Amino acid sequence: MFFERPNAGSRALLVHIDQQDSELATPDELKELVVSASLEPVWCVTSSRRFPHPPTFLGQGKVEEIAKSVGDVKAELVVINAELSPTQERNLESALNIRVLDRTALILEIFALRARTHEGKLQVELAQLAHASTRLVHGWTHLDRQRGGSGRGVGASSGLGGAGETQLEADQRMIQQRTRRITARLEKVRRQRNQNRRSRKRSDVKTVSLAGYTNAGKSTLFNRLCDSDVWEADQLFATLDPTLRQLSIPIVGKVVISDTVGFIRQLPHTLVDAFRATLEEVAFADLILHVVDVEADSRAERVTQVEDVLREIGAASVPTLLVYNKTDVIGGHSRIDRDATGLPVKVWLSAHTGQGLDLLVSAMGELLADNLVETQIALKPDEGNVRAKLFALGAVLHEDTDPNGIIHMDLRIDQRDLIRIQRQVAMK
Ligand code: GTP
Repeated sequence: MFFERPNAGSRALLVHIDQQDSELATPDELKELVVSASLEPVWCVTSSRRFPHPPTFLGQGKVEEIAKSVGDVKAELVVINAELSPTQERNLESALNIRVLDRTALILEIFALRARTHEGKLQVELAQLAHASTRLVHGWTHLDRQRGGSGRGVGASSGLGGAGETQLEADQRMIQQRTRRITARLEKVRRQRNQNRRSRKRSDVKTVSLAGYTNAGKSTLFNRLCDSDVWEADQLFATLDPTLRQLSIPIVGKVVISDTVGFIRQLPHTLVDAFRATLEEVAFADLILHVVDVEADSRAERVTQVEDVLREIGAASVPTLLVYNKTDVIGGHSRIDRDATGLPVKVWLSAHTGQGLDLLVSAMGELLADNLVETQIALKPDEGNVRAKLFALGAVLHEDTDPNGIIHMDLRIDQRDLIRIQRQVAMK
């Protein structure tokens, strides 16, 4: 077995190291991550080590304290909020005689549990294989017997190949094969996704992407907007795959809205790479809804971090509307803040109660309908299909039918749609 995921509900002893620049700033945050990974936190040992002790990251005294606690609380694994080198991980596992998950492995586990689409699952597995392969190179199979068969492993080794092949070589070979297979499959999924994106562009359907720090309320908002059933949960990373839905907005008509992965500080590199394709969806959007949790203490800092990621993935030039969510918690009212030119820049709302959702939809309409013109059109009685199309676009302000059956319509419509409709009418 070259790669084994921990059993759900395993008793986890947490080791919280107080590093000033760490993502997991508090023991509570570490605990929340551990619960998100379906593990049971049973005890937490803290340490304020500034510089890692090379062999085990922690000092000898701390390792002994942890070893004692492991026995006392009958822990089944240890979770540590630090990036361990493969050697440190192996040394710690040997000293404690128990499985150790570092920060990357913990986050990968959460992502593995949360991934829902085929592409998301492939991306996570690829990231897990990359992580596992660095462990293998340094001889990772020393705990094989303790790890045992949990049934949640990915890609069990099929045994040794030719004569003289060691377990380590066999595991390496299996990882390479599996990585190649997944990469090829991902390529196919991505081609399909690009095709879908191109056909959306061709049909001029606008795309709105939800982005934001994890737990900001993107899925809740997505559900509210689309009345869909994307899973929402009070856990970090509830959403890992972009999920597309169609939504009809007045004036603009149909738009495609996509829910994306929650951003977090210092995502492991393997994951950033694996999810790059997913995040690209945001860069191709016509509008980004940047959802912010108004309740979060580090609100401003999180906004900056998300903006950094958006820049990194090439989405800096996409128009962005800030959505200040959870106003119900701070007892605030919903409203739209506008810039000096009158364009919406921020909408305050509660995705939970739905208050302010109408404001968001109208702000989205204003920002998306960039080429709006107001005009009139007259349709003959047999042009019902054109009339239906105009209604579907949400372009009709008013209509009247005269005694000859001619339909006179006042429209507010995107210029490109108008040209297309006029061409269709002229061709008849
Ligand atoms: P990730 O998938 O981790 O990126 O999270 P997300 O941004 O999609 O957040 P999600 O919608 O899962 O919401 C996180 C938590 O905040 C859930 O417990 C929601 O019920 C809660 N929540 C979302 N919107 C509101 C809101 O307007 N008010 C209140 N009080 N809670 C909200």
